[in-house]
Amino acid sequence: MIYIAPSMLSADFWELGNDLRRIADAGADYLHLDVMDGAFVPNISFGTPVIASIRPHCNLIFDVHLMINDPIRYIDDYAKAGADIITFHIESCTDVMEVINAIHQKGLRCGLALSPATPVEKIIPYLPEIDMALIMTVVPGFGGQALIPETLDKVRVVRNYADTHQLQLDIEVDGGIKADNIALTTQMGANVIVAGSAIFNAKNPEGVISAMRSAAEQNPYQK
Ligand code: DX5
Ligand code: ZN
Repeated sequence: MIYIAPSMLSADFWELGNDLRRIADAGADYLHLDVMDGAFVPNISFGTPVIASIRPHCNLIFDVHLMINDPIRYIDDYAKAGADIITFHIESCTDVMEVINAIHQKGLRCGLALSPATPVEKIIPYLPEIDMALIMTVVPGFGGQALIPETLDKVRVVRNYADTHQLQLDIEVDGGIKADNIALTTQMGANVIVAGSAIFNAKNPEGVISAMRSAAEQNPYQK
């Protein structure tokens, strides 16, 4: 199953309510929420007050992508704000298992993210413990960058490991994905596809989401 996750970072924040209705009506599955602290990444986005305000008005799965140092400090807050999935970066903390356990204790799905510079081997030991691996296809920090093709091989390695070990694992890809290159990611085994600028900046987001979905379905992962 392919899930399309528009990233709210590319929304017009003056028009936020309308933008979110538009992408929900357009057939989005998840709402990807990029939280940036200006320290783990060189950009600051939004945090719990924004997420808590939109939660009562939006039925999409809230896919919170924490790009912050020491995420353990904030798991309670993002759970309370309405996250369904909390993903944090393997590079952002020393005790990865502690954060995974804290997220699961809240009854939420846990994702673990890998930046382009981090070797895929680092995430392998945690795959049996998590619900989703997030393979970053750009350097985290900003929307609207171009996909780095060298990151795609990590998706194949993780999917192959999950298959071999019979793990029910979602693999999310994030950064620079559009209808014309989504196939590169699904062929490698990705099934949760983030797209910010491609969807929020489109005149016809419904057309973009359905083009992405059909390109993904026509280019499935093959072992
Ligand atoms: C980058 C963020 C992404 C970003 C994606 O740090 O994690 O989610 O918003 O935006 P696009 O699809 O425009 O690359
Ligand atoms: Zn993201």
